[in-house]
Amino acid sequence: MKRFTSLFASALLVCSMAVTSAQAADKIVVGFSQIGAESAWRVANTDSITSEAKNRPNIDLKFSDAQQKQENQIKALRSFISQGVDVIAFSPVVETGWEPVLKEAKRAHIPVILTDRAVDVQDDTLWVTFMGSDFVEEGRRAGNWLLENYGRLKAEGKSSDVINVVELQGTVGSAPAIDRKTGFEEVVKGSPVKIIKSQSGDFTRAKGKEVMEAFLKSEGKNIDVLYAHNDDMALGAIQAIEEYGLKPGKDIIIVSIDAVRGAFEAMVEGKLNCTVECSPLLGPQLFDAVEALAAGKELPKRIVTNEDVFPAETAAEILPTRKY
Ligand code: AHR
Repeated sequence: MKRFTSLFASALLVCSMAVTSAQAADKIVVGFSQIGAESAWRVANTDSITSEAKNRPNIDLKFSDAQQKQENQIKALRSFISQGVDVIAFSPVVETGWEPVLKEAKRAHIPVILTDRAVDVQDDTLWVTFMGSDFVEEGRRAGNWLLENYGRLKAEGKSSDVINVVELQGTVGSAPAIDRKTGFEEVVKGSPVKIIKSQSGDFTRAKGKEVMEAFLKSEGKNIDVLYAHNDDMALGAIQAIEEYGLKPGKDIIIVSIDAVRGAFEAMVEGKLNCTVECSPLLGPQLFDAVEALAAGKELPKRIVTNEDVFPAETAAEILPTRKY
C-alpha cells in the first residue's frame, strides 16, 4: 500500500489484479525500529509487536533491531524511508538527535508513530502519536510506595531520620531514565529519603550487578534502599547484594519498575519488595493505530498505557497470571 494519500488509487488497482497480487498490494507496510534486547521487558515488547503483526493479514512488518545504538536506529529509519514504507514506528533509544531523520520522513509523507519512549524535538508535527507508559508517574509510584512502606519494612533497629537510597538509572539520555528519576525525586523531596549514589546500569542485568557491587564497595551497610529503573538491573543487583553477604529485600529494601515475571519470582522469594508496572504489550495498540491511520482517522497525540503497582505481598497470587 503506497502511502495513505494514494489509498483510493491503490484500491482501484487491486480490483483489476489477480487475488494473490491484490493481497500483497493491499498490505500496509510498517517499518519498526526496535532498540535492542537489553531487558526481559524489551524482549516481551518485541514479541508483542511481531506476533501481533503476524495475526493481522493486512500488515507487512519490516522489523529492525538497533542493538541499543542510536546510529543504527537512524540508519533503519532512513532505509524505511527509501523503501517507501507506509508507516514508520520506533522506540527511540535516547530522547535527542532525531530532528534530521524525522524531517526526512515528513518530507516523504511517511507518518511516524512513537512507541514506548518519547523524543525531544521542537516540532511535534514530526510524529503522529506517542503510545506508551507515563514514566514520570512510574517514578512517582515507586517513590510513594517507598514513603508509605519503608517504616513497616525496615524501621526496627534503625532510625529513619534519613533513608539512604542508591539509584540504578536506565540508559543515559533515555526517556525512562530521565522521567523515572524526575518522578521519584519529586515525591521524596522534603522526606527522609536521600539518594546517596546514582549511576546508570544501562537497563541490563549485568550492568545492574556491576554498579551495585561498586555501590556496596563504597557505601556498604549504609545503604537502606535500592531504587532500580528496571527489574533486570534490580535482579542483577540482588545477586551483588547476596554475594556481599546481605539479604536483598530485608537488609536492603528494593523497589524497581517493569513487573516482569522475574521480578515476581524474586518477590515470592522475599528478595524484592515492590515492582511498578510498565507494560511492554504494545503490539495490539500499535497496529490498531496503524489501521486507524490507513482508514484516514485522526489519532490522539498521546496514548497512555494503564498500569499497576505490585508489592511483594501480591506476588504469589499474581505471578501465574503474568503475560511477560
Ligand atoms: O522503555 C522501557 C524500558 O526499557 C523498560 O523499563 C526497560 O526494562 C527497557 O529496557
